[in-house]
Amino acid sequence: MNYVIGGTASKTVAEDIAKLLKGKIVDTISKRFPDNELYVRVLDNIKGKDIIVVQTTYPDPNIIELFLLQNAVEEAGAKSITVVIPYYGYARQDTKFQDGEAISAKALANLISLNADKVITVDPHKEHILDFFSTSAYSCSAVPEIAKYLGEKEIDMILAPDKGAVNRAKKASKIIDCDFDYMEKTRIDGTTVEIKPKNLDAQNKNVAIIDDIISTGGTMAKSIKELKKQGAKKVFVACTHGLFADNAIKKLSTAGCDEIISTDTIISDYSKVKIAPAIIELI
Ligand code: R5P
Repeated sequence: MNYVIGGTASKTVAEDIAKLLKGKIVDTISKRFPDNELYVRVLDNIKGKDIIVVQTTYPDPNIIELFLLQNAVEEAGAKSITVVIPYYGYARQDTKFQDGEAISAKALANLISLNADKVITVDPHKEHILDFFSTSAYSCSAVPEIAKYLGEKEIDMILAPDKGAVNRAKKASKIIDCDFDYMEKTRIDGTTVEIKPKNLDAQNKNVAIIDDIISTGGTMAKSIKELKKQGAKKVFVACTHGLFADNAIKKLSTAGCDEIISTDTIISDYSKVKIAPAIIELI
């Protein structure tokens, strides 16, 4: 029997995982002291049990909650702890881009590894971050689940917003049985990207752009505008992790987006695709 604990950021994903594995949700409480420090407690007896803790590490308070839940489970005498991190926040700072920087993905992995026998995450920005964990770490892809959703939308072409992400688009296109291609993206800085025009044969087509993350929406907005300029009929944008920072949603709508689709690794109004079926393949 699998016993599943859902942190605040990932309650529904935890429930879905428990349902799919025919497991049990473990009762916990989590509250804040007057000074805002967090308190967690596992209410069920989990001594000797295999426990799955599910928690996205975004935004920051959810990281502390994950550490406390891991500690509570360890202290309660669990036999094993599997940590499922639907969205691994801080994964993008995966190296020292400049001297003196922290490798944030590594810093977080070191701490999570302290109380974990196995770690599972979804579409990390770069796979090599899995090596930062000192325990066994695995990742699954949201693409098959996203492709199933897009399969109902009469999509003619799947696009990656840059060449590096083309395999994701290719994988989705195979499931949907449509064309795929990529756009020419150059990142100028953290918030500015340039999408170069490229003839994509988008005229009168329903196109879906698929990416791992939508953060400021800049990448997608520029891609949508370019596709509409090239005569695309409908443009869908789909991502695994919908951060939707700043005014990303407005940017996407203004650019002419017909539908925004995300999974529930980060819960939002656009979490139309459930990630649990992909995660349980690794449990
Ligand atoms: C970058 O390489 C990622 O795959 C995404 O394209 C990026 O994080 C999207 O960021 P934004 O929405 O801010 O353009």
